[in-house]
Amino acid sequence: MRIDVMTLFPAMFEGVFSSSILGKAKDKGLVELNTINFRDYTKDKHNSVDDYPYGGGGGMVLKPEPLFEAVESLTDSVKTEAMPRVILMCPQGEKFTQKKAEELSKESHLIFVCGHYEGYDERIREFLVTDELSIGDYVLTGGELPAMVVIDSVARLLPGVLGNETSAVTDSFSTGLLEYPQYTRPVSFRGMDVPDILLSGHHLNIETWRRKQSFLRTLERRPDMLEGLELSKEQMKWKQE
Ligand code: ADE
Repeated sequence: MRIDVMTLFPAMFEGVFSSSILGKAKDKGLVELNTINFRDYTKDKHNSVDDYPYGGGGGMVLKPEPLFEAVESLTDSVKTEAMPRVILMCPQGEKFTQKKAEELSKESHLIFVCGHYEGYDERIREFLVTDELSIGDYVLTGGELPAMVVIDSVARLLPGVLGNETSAVTDSFSTGLLEYPQYTRPVSFRGMDVPDILLSGHHLNIETWRRKQSFLRTLERRPDMLEGLELSKEQMKWKQE
């Protein structure tokens, strides 16, 4: 997969794109990560990316030309089978979810558009962008952190990116339930003990215990995730216990 990020602050991405799992995925050639400073696509002598809003009012508005030109320079030069999705990060966008991450992970090329401080000229939304995404109901100073969140969650779903292939499959949200509690050594730490069942060696009982913990944790913390789902017989029993 190829990911390009349109931003006025490319330095913000340096650590994220070169560290940990994303950095390794990049080194292994599993994902190509680029930043493009769309100020490089301005044509006026002040290199301005924003201007005053028509109709008056406070704040500045990102101009259409630099962003259109920056995106077109990519779509003209990069030969991929399908047209890339152009994703605008903004608080008004569709709420980003694991389902959306899974959908985006099937694409071959994504372009992210990040603004800072300003609003966007509506023609960017209407004619350049294919998706608008929000990472939650709060406002950040720019789209860079949200783009990093989306890129991280998409990249970790690409084949080969996570060392342990099963870990993306058993994640919270992928299974529709939150994850069960996990323990490692020591068996007893400051009087806090690992549940006996996990030491029993009885795989079937351990599986059942984990399914139950996953279900009860979801019921307690995120009952909204169970809405509209038909509970299994064992889940009905656990709920009533
Ligand atoms: N830009 C500013 N706040 C944002 C948010 N919550 N999600 C996506 N982009 C944003």
